[in-house]
Amino acid sequence: MFSLSLRDNALLCPLETWHAEEFAAHMDRAREHIRPWVGQSFVTDSLDGARATLLRYAERQAADGARLYGIWLDGTLVGGVMFTSFDAASGACEVGCWLEPAAEGHGLVTPACAALLDWAFLTRGLHRAAWHCRADNARSAAVAERLSMVLEGVERESWPYEGVRYDTQGWAVLASDWRKTGRA
Ligand SMILES: CC(C)(COP(=O)(O)OP(=O)(O)OC[C@H]1O[C@@H](n2cnc3c(N)ncnc32)[C@H](O)[C@@H]1OP(=O)(O)O)[C@@H](O)C(=O)NCCC(=O)NCCS
Repeated sequence: MFSLSLRDNALLCPLETWHAEEFAAHMDRAREHIRPWVGQSFVTDSLDGARATLLRYAERQAADGARLYGIWLDGTLVGGVMFTSFDAASGACEVGCWLEPAAEGHGLVTPACAALLDWAFLTRGLHRAAWHCRADNARSAAVAERLSMVLEGVERESWPYEGVRYDTQGWAVLASDWRKTGRA
């Protein structure tokens, strides 16, 4: 219904329960690409599973919590960004993202995350935004760096995946840092 233009042919819009079929079709294209790097409950393989993800976010958004946004490139849903957590009371949120393979390397996710950070810091007055990724997820860490996030630490062997425990990097940006970036 309403959208933010990321570029001429790329839009950021709320991703809602009525998008379930589109989201399920996108997940068919994205699933194996994102599986190693995102929370396993996000990787669904059916229309019901896709709908359940959207409903979970809708319910959390209704409580002023997590929120989900899709990125449409030339009219096709190709990925998105989210507040995986959002807590106005403590002034803290966490941001996440994903793309299907064909949409990687087009500079879509960084401006989409920047729009979320603008809203969190400037509209909602939050203080801190975090980012967690597997320590070997170089593309995700590069997004965090482009967002002026600082690597604050590593949680050792905290990300179990297919029988191996990977380290998790914790990145964050503060509202005061964000204002200094000149993006705001
Ligand atoms: C993490 C992920 C979303 C990053 O996607 P991405 O496309 O690399 O990130 P951005 O949208 O910021 O795009 C930057 C890339 O676009 C390129 N680019 C192309 N056109 C551009 C433009 N007009 N403006 C800016 N960058 C542009 C940049 O050069 C950069 O590519 P490079 O790293 O190969 O040099 C993606 O790799 C992914 O979905 N991975 C699997 C899921 C995942 O890891 N999710 C995160 C969990 S923590």
